[in-house]
Amino acid sequence: MSVEAKALQTVSDQIVVAGRPMPQFHHIGVEPLTGACGCEITGVDLRQPLKPEVLDEIMTAFEHFLVIMLRDQNLSIEQHKAFSHYFGELMELPQAPLYAGDREMQEVRREAHEPVSVVPFTKFHTDSPFLERPPKCMVMRAIDAPRYGGDTAFANMYIAYEDLSDGMKKVLDNLRVVYSGRDIWSKNAKLDEGRRLRLRESHDFREDQLENAHPAVRRHPRTGRKALFVTPTYFKRFDGWSEADSRPLLEYLAHMPHKLQYQCRIRWKPNTLIVWDNRFLQHCGIHDYENERRHLIRTTVIGERPLG
Ligand SMILES: [Fe+2]
Repeated sequence: MSVEAKALQTVSDQIVVAGRPMPQFHHIGVEPLTGACGCEITGVDLRQPLKPEVLDEIMTAFEHFLVIMLRDQNLSIEQHKAFSHYFGELMELPQAPLYAGDREMQEVRREAHEPVSVVPFTKFHTDSPFLERPPKCMVMRAIDAPRYGGDTAFANMYIAYEDLSDGMKKVLDNLRVVYSGRDIWSKNAKLDEGRRLRLRESHDFREDQLENAHPAVRRHPRTGRKALFVTPTYFKRFDGWSEADSRPLLEYLAHMPHKLQYQCRIRWKPNTLIVWDNRFLQHCGIHDYENERRHLIRTTVIGERPLG
């Protein structure tokens, strides 16, 4: 075979998903959910201690696919936390309701009779970007899932950034975003009772911890790969820009995660467990589950201060 033919064959043999060649896995089953992000992992029972080679491959899948899903993981709270600790240190969030009063566990719960709006948020977003060190990832497990609907959608913000023109990249590479979580409680209180979010009622965070400026394009601390880190939720303005000046660019960038070619969706079933990267993905719960209960519990792992 000629060198050219061999090179061509190598290219066509290589599976490219999530914008990069797919790593090889020998100790776990890995099935990509779409070409953009997400995979299902099989052959792992998270109730058991994990062998180092299995854990290594889970971490490789997490880094590559950004959201990993495992079905049928009937974990105790201790087992859920133990698995979460492989990803880092657990953190509290000022606004997210606790699960069973446990400061290391949060819940996303909507009872069948409640308006779906009790669950934030209906638009693509990243969680808690207003903190100095926003979450690295969430480890989330379904206790109760709707019979149909209530999926969570994810969008790969590396690819969203890589698809932008060089001119736009240059503008964004030098931009910072001011995010603030200071006024979510007062804004919520002004809504009609039936439209209010379920927020945590008290927390120990100081006011100055609830507002921070971060790069509009952040880099992965190990690989250096860049991703768009702009989301309308908690957005105040681009640093040095007025709110009015900021709005048109924000609106344009807010459309990025809506492109289907950047997305995957997780269909929840009881005991489905996912870990998603909150730094390089945006996510969105889909509110299409009238009269159905949806109860998800999670831990949150602290991330690095976003790197520009
Ligand atoms: Fe969220």
